[in-house]
Amino acid sequence: MKKRIISPSLLSANFTRLKEDISIVEDCGVNRLHLDVMDGHFVPNLTFGPFIINHINEITNSHLETHLMITDPHKYLKDYIDAGSNTLIFHYEASTDIKRDLSFIRDNNVLAGIAINPDTDPSNLLKYFDYLDYILIMSVFPGFGGQSFIEDTLETMIYLNNKRNKKDILIGVDGGVNLKTIDKVYNTGIDVTIVGSGLYGADNIQERYKQLTSNE
Ligand code: DX5
Ligand code: ZN
Repeated sequence: MKKRIISPSLLSANFTRLKEDISIVEDCGVNRLHLDVMDGHFVPNLTFGPFIINHINEITNSHLETHLMITDPHKYLKDYIDAGSNTLIFHYEASTDIKRDLSFIRDNNVLAGIAINPDTDPSNLLKYFDYLDYILIMSVFPGFGGQSFIEDTLETMIYLNNKRNKKDILIGVDGGVNLKTIDKVYNTGIDVTIVGSGLYGADNIQERYKQLTSNE
């Protein structure tokens, strides 16, 4: 069975002790972190920008996947690349030229990712497969941590997992992944789950990480 890769969403971490909250999950075996950037326009919430990501990059060696939930992502891609993102993800629904934006990210030696909302037809992504390194399937409508998993998105996971064939594309799932939902998510064949409240909300984070990554 495939090893479960979890990319904790720092949105649910405690920002007054971010360094400790990163170390706690890294000590469990995490080497990938998910950074949620919201602009108050594409989504009705605001988080942080490149300034904070630059500082996060200074305190960790983990792979940083930056999830841009922002309008006109092309205007800001360079800022998030320079801040230290290793994978940079923008929304299918937000970009005005998807090939241009994916190519720009790759040309800057960063892995290029695209996120799709729960109500976006995943077949729209097929024509971009040659330009993509990562697909982030949203299993909630983006904007907030702690929302309930949308069951219909399991179909999108199965569909894209089948379609990617031998293409070298990683698939992540973001939103509402927790002890109750994680098994069915991995059963679709996807590679990475983003877990925020389902991990950082636990009294014992180490114990919860073990439960989430256990295949039994
Ligand atoms: C939602 C964000 C998610 C979120 C996940 O807009 O993109 O990454 O933080 O949080 P949980 O795991 O609590 O749903
Ligand atoms: Zn996210």
